[in-house]
Amino acid sequence: MMEEEMSTSSRKRDHLRICAGSRVEAGFSGFSDVRLVHAALPECSLPEVDTGVRFLGHHLASPLFIAAMTGGHRDAIPINRNLAAAAERFGIGMGVGSQRAALEDPDLEDSFTVVREAAPRAFLCANLGVVQLRDHGIEWAERAVEMIDAQALCIHANFLQEAIMPEGDHDARGCLGALATLCRDFPVPVILKETGAGISRETARRLWGAGVSAIDIGGLGGTSWARVECIRSPESPSARLGERFADWGIPTVVSLREVAGTGPVIATGGVRSGLDMAKALALGADLCGMALPLLAPAMKSGEAVAERIEGFTKELAVAMFLSGARTVKSMRNVRTWITGTTRQMIERIQEISDGS
Ligand SMILES: Cc1cc2nc3c(=O)[nH]c(=O)nc-3n(C[C@H](O)[C@H](O)[C@H](O)COP(=O)(O)O)c2cc1C
Repeated sequence: MMEEEMSTSSRKRDHLRICAGSRVEAGFSGFSDVRLVHAALPECSLPEVDTGVRFLGHHLASPLFIAAMTGGHRDAIPINRNLAAAAERFGIGMGVGSQRAALEDPDLEDSFTVVREAAPRAFLCANLGVVQLRDHGIEWAERAVEMIDAQALCIHANFLQEAIMPEGDHDARGCLGALATLCRDFPVPVILKETGAGISRETARRLWGAGVSAIDIGGLGGTSWARVECIRSPESPSARLGERFADWGIPTVVSLREVAGTGPVIATGGVRSGLDMAKALALGADLCGMALPLLAPAMKSGEAVAERIEGFTKELAVAMFLSGARTVKSMRNVRTWITGTTRQMIERIQEISDGS
């Protein structure tokens, strides 16, 4: 193994340990500022509430999407197996963690291939960093998709984390062009995902222009990569930098308001319950991604993941029922109240688009 390969793999192992054992969330997602309007006479039956959705031409039993987390080292094998088994059992989508380590060292591929083995029919998303895409081109993208026989490819943008890490990629030039080249004739849909700092409407416009099929807004308010890097090297000068930028970014609810309605959107970042999922759907999300809430259960057992997902699904169904929405589609018509800082930020977006 070359030094660079070893560092990708061991950094990924550090990330898992830190995310599972420390306080890695920062900022606010905005979900606590959102309320759904109660329907006193829902005129539907709770057991008949249908959480099924269509996304990029695939039918999924729930909008809950297992967001990219891991792969690329031995410890990831049981975690990915447990997550994938749940994706298969519940008919939901799942993204794998960055496949960079396995693209650098094919010996690490089994920490990813285990996902397709455990989930032969699930909607799976491959994962590659936008910098790796720019530097290695379409060949890495194709290999990432082939490795897990994926239905879509997530390209992640994490320039907040890169800027904090001393060894990070500090040159973001050429990424949009690389994305546009990829999207031109790639065989599966390409999803651009942020990883905790959100997507603005301006960035979304450029992404649709580049030809992406969906955007995962990955907003502020959940796992903070600035904070993770701070914990990873507490003595380094980057720790202070990381803490300074721990709540940098666009809160998930605000980002959702910026991007919803412009194309297929996954709302990720601080989604912590089925109720948050219902709120995101009412605000226009197509899918709702969760990473951190599923990490501890996945480190325990497949059964623990299943229990967690069942809990979230039940919460979602109750929220839909009490909103008078039997289907996810009708959740879109449910009225919301938005208060506090989230409201102020959203009103400002409205003012800008009204030209005032
Ligand atoms: C342990 C861990 C590892 C992650 N690794 C990746 C990764 O390799 N690639 C990626 O695109 N996102 C990665 N993410 C980011 C998540 O997909 C997600 O965007 C982010 O954590 C926000 O969701 P959350 O608040 O539910 O955790 C990771 C998240 C966690 C918790």
